[in-house]
Amino acid sequence: MVAMVRVHKPGGPEVLKYEEVELGAPGPGELRIRQYAAGVNYVDVYFRSGLYPSPVGLPFVAGNEGAGEVTAVGEGVEDFTLGDRVGYLVTFGGYAAERRLPVQRAIRLPDAISYQQAAGMMLKGMTVHYLLRRTFKVEKGTTVLIHAAAGGVGLLACQWAAHLGATVIGTVGSKAKAELAAANGCHHPILYREEDFAARVKDITGGRLCDVVYDGVGQATYPASLDCLRPLGMFVNYGNTSGMIPPIDAGLLSRKGSLFATRTSTAHYLAKRDHLLAASADLFDMVSGGAVKIPVNQRYALKDAAQAHRDLESRATTGSSILIP
Ligand SMILES: NC(=O)c1ccc[n+]([C@@H]2O[C@H](COP(=O)([O-])OP(=O)(O)OC[C@H]3O[C@@H](n4cnc5c(N)ncnc54)[C@H](OP(=O)(O)O)[C@@H]3O)[C@@H](O)[C@H]2O)c1
Repeated sequence: MVAMVRVHKPGGPEVLKYEEVELGAPGPGELRIRQYAAGVNYVDVYFRSGLYPSPVGLPFVAGNEGAGEVTAVGEGVEDFTLGDRVGYLVTFGGYAAERRLPVQRAIRLPDAISYQQAAGMMLKGMTVHYLLRRTFKVEKGTTVLIHAAAGGVGLLACQWAAHLGATVIGTVGSKAKAELAAANGCHHPILYREEDFAARVKDITGGRLCDVVYDGVGQATYPASLDCLRPLGMFVNYGNTSGMIPPIDAGLLSRKGSLFATRTSTAHYLAKRDHLLAASADLFDMVSGGAVKIPVNQRYALKDAAQAHRDLESRATTGSSILIP
């Protein structure tokens, strides 16, 4: 029997149940791994609450990011063997002491990356990779606005964008978060609970505004995010911590400056193995070279997953949170 955190019906953090469950041997094309750490992500909240329906039905084992050691391989697996260190993202079953993992989602970890770092960055870091390198190509001279800049995705995005030579403007919920964002590459933190962030962006940029807005907050920052963009700028909605944005009015995009708008998902950017491998190689280079540090700022025992969700949803966390089996 293996310790896991399962959801039997959608609801609040209390529906995360710590249980002992039979795991079984890996099937064809699967690995069995002993996990050393599992990442906590806002997407886990969406699935737990029922905002997003579970694609694997009920009950499901929560969690979409983690790292561990291969302890068994299924039939037909050739590229991995016992003892290999692997990480993964976006496959249910993360909140567990052990799990089975489709080999197509397994990514070999370099020695320089610890299990805890991997659990704090596989989903968040590869999201930042596609947002900054593929959705909109950030480079020297780009001005970016990153909402929730002190969060898990936010702190990695600020560091990476600054490393690419961008001017980084970020919104944050408190003064302490502003200091943390500033220490992680955010040149201009804005306290968006106190200030009109679109007006501040206008001041900071001398009226030029931003080339791209990365918005994982959603309802609370839309449509003001559009006012932060220069003509032909790109609005990237990639999450909804405050709620989903309403349907986008195409006429509004025209009036605000012939803007581009997209709603992105790892399901499309990281579906292919080639993309997974290329993105993880870039991420590992950034981290092992020191350009991006993984701020694992909250650690919980696996059995305390509900508390991890409470903290995340009450905006009490910064950087990455992990569960330790
Ligand atoms: N589409 C994708 O491919 C993809 C992949 C990974 C993550 N994401 C998205 O990225 C976003 C960040 O995820 P994360 O796991 O790194 O979370 P996070 O940013 O560490 O945590 C959420 C933060 O959102 C801010 N926030 C603003 N309004 C909020 C509200 N009403 N309730 C709760 N939080 C609120 C808070 O920061 P302040 O206190 O500073 O406001 C809070 O700390 C999420 O929207 C997630 O869904 C998307």
